[in-house]
Amino acid sequence: MLRTAFRVVVGLLAIVGAIAVVGGASFAARGISAKTPPGRLETVMARRLRSRAIPRAAREQQNPIPASADAIKGGMEHFADHCAVCHANDGSGDTEMGRGMSPRAPDMRQAATQNLTDGELFYIIENGVRLTGMPAWGGGSEHDADDNWRLVRFIRHLPKVTQPEIETMKGLNPKSPEEYRQDEETHRFLQGGAAPKTPPPHQHTHGGKG
Ligand code: HEC
Repeated sequence: MLRTAFRVVVGLLAIVGAIAVVGGASFAARGISAKTPPGRLETVMARRLRSRAIPRAAREQQNPIPASADAIKGGMEHFADHCAVCHANDGSGDTEMGRGMSPRAPDMRQAATQNLTDGELFYIIENGVRLTGMPAWGGGSEHDADDNWRLVRFIRHLPKVTQPEIETMKGLNPKSPEEYRQDEETHRFLQGGAAPKTPPPHQHTHGGKG
């Protein structure tokens, strides 16, 4: 009896130790910098832990919002406004923010994301992912559950997103103060006010939202 308990404790300590060694080795090898993405072992372990942390009932939840063009459009509009800054309009993660994080914002068109269940995608959107750049968008944020289920519909649509859809999304991406200023000036000009000034020589642009 005592011996079994002892074995369990030793086993647990071994697991904790292994995690500490992998984590420690990763920090030792890479430092705290977010410039290099986590290694393969760390990624596999992190994804596995993440998956374990999602309760089974949540994983098996079905999307209550039926598949429709409207649902995808709703998801698309939210995605352009809140998610594309990291994930890019096309879901590639190829943005300044998405590339600068460790772990990176993943390419959500790929199997690793598409193979997650609807319930897992929803749970991740609602709760975020600890120790990563992925924020929680559930209860209390601007999104309600239906918005997040529509986002799941749109994530499923990402592998076949069209160029016209990307163009629509560009118009919905949050604007920088400089973009606001220029739009305002153009608007005033069209209403018969002063001609827009020429744009300043250096524009602070954020690439890769396409
Ligand atoms: C500030 C940056 C940022 C924003 C904004 C953001 N995400 Fe994320 N997201 C991430 C990062 C980083 C990950 C990777 C987390 C990980 O490796 O576990 C991620 C992971 C995910 C995943 C899991 C995909 C996978 O295969 O691991 C989903 C789904 C997701 N995000 C959806 C969204 C949605 C929907 C929004 C908008 C409502 C959003 N994200 C906004 C950074 C962001």
